[in-house]
Amino acid sequence: MTRYRFLFAQLARHKWAYSTGILAIFATNLMTVSVPGYLKEAIDFLSNNPQGQDQTHLRHVLTMILLLALAVVGVRTLSRVMFFNPGRRVEAEVKNRLFEKLTHLEKNYHDKNEVGAIISRLQNDITGLRLLAGFGIMQFFNILSALSLTPYMMWQLSPELTLFCVLPVVLVFGLVRFGMSYMVAHMHLRQSRLQELSGFIVSSLSGVEVVKGFSLEGWTAGRFNGQNDRLIDETLKISLLRSFLMPILGNLENILKVLVLTLGGYYVIQHQFSIGELTEFIAYAALLTHPIMGLGWLTTLYQQGMVGIDSIETILKQETPRQDLKRHPQPTQLFEQGLVVDNLSFAYPGGEPLLRGISFTIKPGQTLGILGKIGSGKTTLVNCLNGHLPVGAGQIRLGSEELVNLHPADLRQVIRTVSQEVFLFSDSVKNNILFGAQGDLSDQELLAIVQKSALKDEVARFPLGLDTLVGERGIMLSGGQKQRIALARALAAKTGLLILDNVLSAVDYETERFLLSQILKRDTAQSLLIVSHRVRALESADQILVLDQGQVVQQGRHANLIEQPGIYQSTWALQQEGSLAKH
Ligand SMILES: Nc1ncnc2c1ncn2[C@@H]1O[C@H](COP(=O)(O)OP(=O)(O)OP(=O)(O)O)[C@@H](O)[C@H]1O
Ligand SMILES: [Mg+2]
Repeated sequence: MTRYRFLFAQLARHKWAYSTGILAIFATNLMTVSVPGYLKEAIDFLSNNPQGQDQTHLRHVLTMILLLALAVVGVRTLSRVMFFNPGRRVEAEVKNRLFEKLTHLEKNYHDKNEVGAIISRLQNDITGLRLLAGFGIMQFFNILSALSLTPYMMWQLSPELTLFCVLPVVLVFGLVRFGMSYMVAHMHLRQSRLQELSGFIVSSLSGVEVVKGFSLEGWTAGRFNGQNDRLIDETLKISLLRSFLMPILGNLENILKVLVLTLGGYYVIQHQFSIGELTEFIAYAALLTHPIMGLGWLTTLYQQGMVGIDSIETILKQETPRQDLKRHPQPTQLFEQGLVVDNLSFAYPGGEPLLRGISFTIKPGQTLGILGKIGSGKTTLVNCLNGHLPVGAGQIRLGSEELVNLHPADLRQVIRTVSQEVFLFSDSVKNNILFGAQGDLSDQELLAIVQKSALKDEVARFPLGLDTLVGERGIMLSGGQKQRIALARALAAKTGLLILDNVLSAVDYETERFLLSQILKRDTAQSLLIVSHRVRALESADQILVLDQGQVVQQGRHANLIEQPGIYQSTWALQQEGSLAKH
């Protein structure tokens, strides 16, 4: 039922176009079914008047047929425009909604769903909706009017002959229905094969360097072939069925003609029917086959559309719980009392608790450092703090406000994250930085940010300076340059807490020092949370947490921690040796 509600809601937006289309379709069919009547008159006139005297009536009849034919062309064109255009609009509108929804969905959804499969839903599955909302709806009204008007005209001429024609129509329709249920099952399969293939294409092309680096071309091509074969299997099954059904539908016209000629011919011999009437009836029978064929199409379009709607709804129905939350009147004040983490625990869906019993406070103006081995849960903690991962009630608070109750937009304004895995849009350096700004930045402000992010010299060397395009995901840049552009993006607006998750890992010692000195000025962020493997980056923090297997195992300032035996001390000692060895 919800599928219909969804469909009608989309169609209702274009009710005027559809209403005009429906009127045009009825007009077309009305005109089409009046042609055989004129045909009958012309033929009967000719057979009753073989000498061809007084042809005014004949001329009148022929003019009418011609005018009707011309009018049908015009009105049918109008009806197609009135159905097809809204169909395309519905597709575009739903696509917009889907994309917007996808940008709001939580990290967990994106972790579970491959990009390629989502693209396939957005590009392929939606086609079913477009066809249904355009061609399908048009066929529906076309069939409705044709299948009511044509049999009515046939009935007027001869009820017995009409009933005689119904039999093959019902048989063929039954066959089509049967075939369609088989087809639908395979359409579902084909859709999921398409999603699989699309997922595979995206993942292998985005990792094409790895594929080449490890000489995996053959293996990848083999897997692609396998998946493509499975897709083609389904496609062939569907087209085989179509190839079987279409000729049956196409030949229905001939079957009907044979029936009408047999029984109708008998009526003519018996003088119950004129030749003109027989011609008229045959013309109706021919008109009848098109909507019957259309009915076959319509059932396919209907099924395909419903499969598409199901697939679209799996995205639209995903919950975005925090979207309903109210905006805070003054989000900038949210960080006035700092951030409190109270006994935070977190588990990924279906997994063991990864973070356990974590508690700390970051006051405005403070810097918190987090050190931990690879996989100790640092990024997971960061994603809990910035709201990317759902946390339990009462575990994280900003003053008196619970983090879970904050609108995502407010939260993004008050907590900004430069994540470990940098993402750049394929746009210019400048635009990649400005994505982070709230409102416009003057050229001077932008240059100040570029300077602060240690990008100034490099940007000066780029061929088009700040307007240089960074390529797909920043492919034209080095890892360190990407990280600093992401940092610049975070510095483009003032915030309460700035989180840097391993951001300084890809830069050299000098640059790291410079960046730290700039960030520690805290003129864009009131407080800082620096996650790092390197003790050096944390030395000046007001408080440092050492994370191990999702728990805080040590806590304090640098001076105390290097005195205590433990991870911090040993990491420090190792890194001291490393840097001594370098100098
Ligand atoms: N989306 C996810 N679903 C399930 N498990 C995950 C997910 N993301 C991370 N993990 C697991 O959580 C653990 C901690 O990962 P996390 O990224 O938080 O570590 P980290 O301390 O940031 O490591 P690194 O220093 O390498 O950045 C890892 O064992 C990882 O396998
Ligand atoms: Mg990490």
